[in-house]
Amino acid sequence: MTDGLLKRGQASPHGILDRACTADDREPELLSLRPRKLEDYVGQQEVVDTLKIAILAARQRQEPLDHVLFHGPPGLGKTTLAHIIANEMEVKLTVTSGPALEKGGDLLGILTHMEEGDVLFIDEIHRTPKAVEEFLYPAMEDFAVDFVFDKGIHARSHRYRLNRFTLVGATTRVGLLSAPLRDRFGLFRSLDFYGLDDLVRIIKRSARLLDISIDEQGAASLAKRSRGTPRIVNRLLKRVRDYAQVRADGRINRETVEAALKLEGVDSLGLTRLDRRYLRTIIDFYNGGPVGIEAIAATLQEETDTLVDVVEPYLLKIGMVIRSSSGRKASAAACDHLGLKPQQRLF
Ligand SMILES: Nc1ncnc2c1ncn2[C@@H]1O[C@H](COP(=O)(O)OP(=O)(O)OP(=O)(O)O)[C@@H](O)[C@H]1O
Ligand SMILES: [Mg+2]
Repeated sequence: MTDGLLKRGQASPHGILDRACTADDREPELLSLRPRKLEDYVGQQEVVDTLKIAILAARQRQEPLDHVLFHGPPGLGKTTLAHIIANEMEVKLTVTSGPALEKGGDLLGILTHMEEGDVLFIDEIHRTPKAVEEFLYPAMEDFAVDFVFDKGIHARSHRYRLNRFTLVGATTRVGLLSAPLRDRFGLFRSLDFYGLDDLVRIIKRSARLLDISIDEQGAASLAKRSRGTPRIVNRLLKRVRDYAQVRADGRINRETVEAALKLEGVDSLGLTRLDRRYLRTIIDFYNGGPVGIEAIAATLQEETDTLVDVVEPYLLKIGMVIRSSSGRKASAAACDHLGLKPQQRLF
């Protein structure tokens, strides 16, 4: 997926770099929907304005861009922004992710291949192993890495200079990032869920690129059910297109959106089956809470990380759950939406 950006023509020398992208980002059709320039990037106005200024200033000074850290729930456009930065700076982009960097050597190999101004994108940077993270500190700050040869009393250290590069980090959990790492980023921006207007604009843009016909009401209805997330917009748009093609005349309107998404298990607020199971567990099983996330995960037989990274951010945003020091509570809105009442405590 970095091909278009590998300006200097060679394929990435690192096998590990390829592991970084998730499957749905790799579908050629969805790839083509990814905005390539800042002007095509919908919404997140503050982030876009900050980047515009920083990029222009760096280009005028003919310097590499400062290191940038993006934080936000999955699918809001962090990876897209990393691609856009490399594109706008007209430099090569190298993509990897925290968990793919198993040893310091992996990172060293990548860093020593970077040319002046190149962008290194580390996805899920909070999952970078500690030993690897330590190589990052001098690399980010002094553009140098320290090799240690031999061991024990024969150990010798050698400092290797790197070309000045830009690190772009993305994380869904900024709280898990160590303070020294966080402090080394010059720019730090959080992405928030998209509002309905922006989602409609993304739907129209994607529909145009995929040659899909969708009317205003259809777009509005799809926007309402997309959990404020562009990735979900694009995925659901494709499901609705299939439905409209087989069950209707190919044109998408409110009825086709509603019918198609019902089949997908997506309800009127955009909640998925997992969202509803999560809420139901708190309400039915734990009397509405408060309950710890580990207990919910165990009851649902889901990974805690999935619940914290994927399920909870949107439910918190729309006020369906409340997080307190004693655990998660379902709100009255959640009970209303599901038509449930928390059981009275019996003990
Ligand atoms: N502002 C936007 N305008 C238009 N499309 C967008 C925008 N942001 C994201 N998208 C679309 O949503 C998809 C998902 O975005 P992206 O892969 O950048 O998310 P992410 O934040 O990196 O998610 P993850 O944390 O899961 O890696 C992209 O393929 C792109 O097509
Ligand atoms: Mg990503």
